[in-house]
Amino acid sequence: MVSLDLEFVRSHFPAFTHPDSRQWAHLENAGGSYVPNQVISILQDFYTSSKVQPYWKFGPSAKAGQAMDRAVEVIPATFNASPNEVHFGPSTSQNTYVLANALRPDWDSGDNIIVTNQDHEANIGAWRRLEETGIEIREWRVNPETGLLDIDQLAQLICSKTRLVAVTHASNLAATINPLCSIAELVHGVGGLLVADGVSFAPHAAIDVQELNCDIYLYSTYKTYGPHLGLMFASENISHKVTNQGHFFNADKPTYRLTPAGPDHASIAACAGMVDYYEDIYHHHFPSGSENLRERLEKVFELFGEHEEQLMEPLISYILSREDFRLIGTNSKSRIERAPTVAFHSYTKSSEAIYDSLIDAKISCGHGNFYAHRLTEAVGLNAEDGVVRLSMVHYNTMDEVTRAIDALQSIN
Ligand SMILES: Cc1ncc(COP(=O)(O)O)c(C=O)c1O
Repeated sequence: MVSLDLEFVRSHFPAFTHPDSRQWAHLENAGGSYVPNQVISILQDFYTSSKVQPYWKFGPSAKAGQAMDRAVEVIPATFNASPNEVHFGPSTSQNTYVLANALRPDWDSGDNIIVTNQDHEANIGAWRRLEETGIEIREWRVNPETGLLDIDQLAQLICSKTRLVAVTHASNLAATINPLCSIAELVHGVGGLLVADGVSFAPHAAIDVQELNCDIYLYSTYKTYGPHLGLMFASENISHKVTNQGHFFNADKPTYRLTPAGPDHASIAACAGMVDYYEDIYHHHFPSGSENLRERLEKVFELFGEHEEQLMEPLISYILSREDFRLIGTNSKSRIERAPTVAFHSYTKSSEAIYDSLIDAKISCGHGNFYAHRLTEAVGLNAEDGVVRLSMVHYNTMDEVTRAIDALQSIN
């Protein structure tokens, strides 16, 4: 059986050897991941030789356009979508904001939208704001003990006037994977749309929007080893519902309609570097493989997921073994049920104090609400102090996890 060659993986990331970062065990990946050479070299080349208006016939401009086109061509495979369905925006927060404005004209006053209190505010605030325009907002609330959502409660909230349900695929704190297929069935049953925030899920598994059956799916590339952008899949089936948000003369270009702020050209180009990285991982582990791009991505993320599952096992077990700690979200250590993001707090110490001890031990992490402000309060915590979060991705080592556990062990 093939398993992830961690030395090979880490050799692509300069941060692991750079004097400013090499001493840190980076366990704040849910905030932002390190970037491999494949991405850095595209950015550097773009800024060095083609940082001009793209798509003219002069050399540097044509080169810039080609670099951007390459990203536009390969990135849809990361969603299992077609190029006309993938929009490059500056961030997920910006993408939901634009999307909310694009969809609103299709609805009547008195229609409703269902949002959760588990999501990052990026997939709540933009929708809630529509209340000012006559849309009713219904809140699908978490269990305050666990921070988890129960689909039966959604079934009670949903009705023939529900136009959209916005829910996270995996919360950036509770980390539990929500059952998008079942949610889609409920939403589509009343003719509504499903918007899924995949920002916390995308670094860990190959997204398949066809299988998930969602209408809109978003993720942020600065958490998936890429530049700082937000990517949005919007199904072609909903294009007739979306009012053009771009310049009027671009209204017939599908991928311009939801991106009034065309983001940094170099960053668009650098998104191809994420796929180059996945490709290099694939060819290293499966030298005689002959699958198509989508299948190659699936195999790479399978390797990532297996390794991540091994990493989260001891950390979650340790947190659960501490009577003074409370884990937010599911107790499961299975990657089918959760992302390798571990948010917890102590009954006896502030999250800030635990965070300070981890920082002293050179563990990169954070504390607070991580913009899941409503979730933090819903599980009974002060939104400022919040939780401590340790989040892993495939390039982390067991040694780094052990260092974090050792640091926690010294906190009584
Ligand atoms: C789960 C989740 N959703 C959305 C966002 C917002 O993404 P962006 O910073 O691209 O707006 C974040 C950012 O941390 C997040 O963790």
